[in-house]
Amino acid sequence: MYHVPVLLDECLSALQVKENGVYFDGTLGGGGHSSAILSKGGNVIGVDRDEDAINECSRRLKVYGDRIKIFRSNYKNASEILSQEGVMLDGALLDLGISSHQIDTAERGMSYRFDAPLDMRMDQRQLLTAEMVVNEYTEEELLKILYEYGEEKFAKRIVKNIVRQREKSPIRTTKELADIVVNSVPASVKLPQKRTFQAIRIEVNNELRGLDKAIKDIFSFLKSGARLCVITFHSLEDRIVKQAFNLLSTDCICDKSLPVCVCGHKAEGKAFKKVKPSQKELVNNSRSASATLRVIEKL
Ligand SMILES: C[S@@+](CC[C@H](N)C(=O)[O-])C[C@H]1O[C@@H](n2cnc3c(N)ncnc32)[C@H](O)[C@@H]1O
Repeated sequence: MYHVPVLLDECLSALQVKENGVYFDGTLGGGGHSSAILSKGGNVIGVDRDEDAINECSRRLKVYGDRIKIFRSNYKNASEILSQEGVMLDGALLDLGISSHQIDTAERGMSYRFDAPLDMRMDQRQLLTAEMVVNEYTEEELLKILYEYGEEKFAKRIVKNIVRQREKSPIRTTKELADIVVNSVPASVKLPQKRTFQAIRIEVNNELRGLDKAIKDIFSFLKSGARLCVITFHSLEDRIVKQAFNLLSTDCICDKSLPVCVCGHKAEGKAFKKVKPSQKELVNNSRSASATLRVIEKL
């Protein structure tokens, strides 16, 4: 199985797919969400930056003919793609993070469960790899990444040991990096490598910068009454989505100390309460545990 779609029923109920409606899927992955939208009669403009995802979706979704258009691109290019297509949307979806296929394919270097080259790129055409981040970034840059993207409280010790090791010989594999991390933190720490690997992956793939702009861009292509669903997998992503949705659904954004509004800002959307996976989904797919769905409707 390439990937089990997360919060699928909840997304479908939020999107209320219309026959012949046009939907944007900025993170095709294995095509789980898109395939469900297509089977309900919608049309999909689908994007992924990973070649494997493009190949999988081209094969899996071929039966839908010209109701699916697939682009190998970054969802941050949504404005260009949607302007070129000349469409307004009946709904949109971003299912952020990585697919099971990416994390379970050893040679992608995303997981500390395997010994593989330190790669971690979602887009295999990109030059920057995890090996470059680990060996070429300054000590200060690495510290910042581990603190900001990993919220790793042992960042100092880990980075010191990375620098000490790379002075002797370059760190080339996931196992070498994982061993350094494990030896840098107290034995009582659960899943010690998780935060460092997440932080470096976020940096390699530039996962957080530009997400708020992409949300605003995609939102601007929604028809009135259409909805954007965003699924996140950690608090850093979720914070960005929550803030972007708050801004889009708030009238006045003046400083609270001002007696009257001077900004003239008007809400363009209505944000719904966040949704977490059901007990049933958690039992069937443990990878859904950290997922959060946020939905906003264009007014
Ligand atoms: C969690 S998976 C999506 C799974 C999909 N919804 C499904 O049901 O099969 C995330 C996918 O988004 C892609 N992705 C992540 N960031 C991206 C970006 N900025 N632009 C395009 N694709 C991206 C990844 O390559 C990955 O295939």
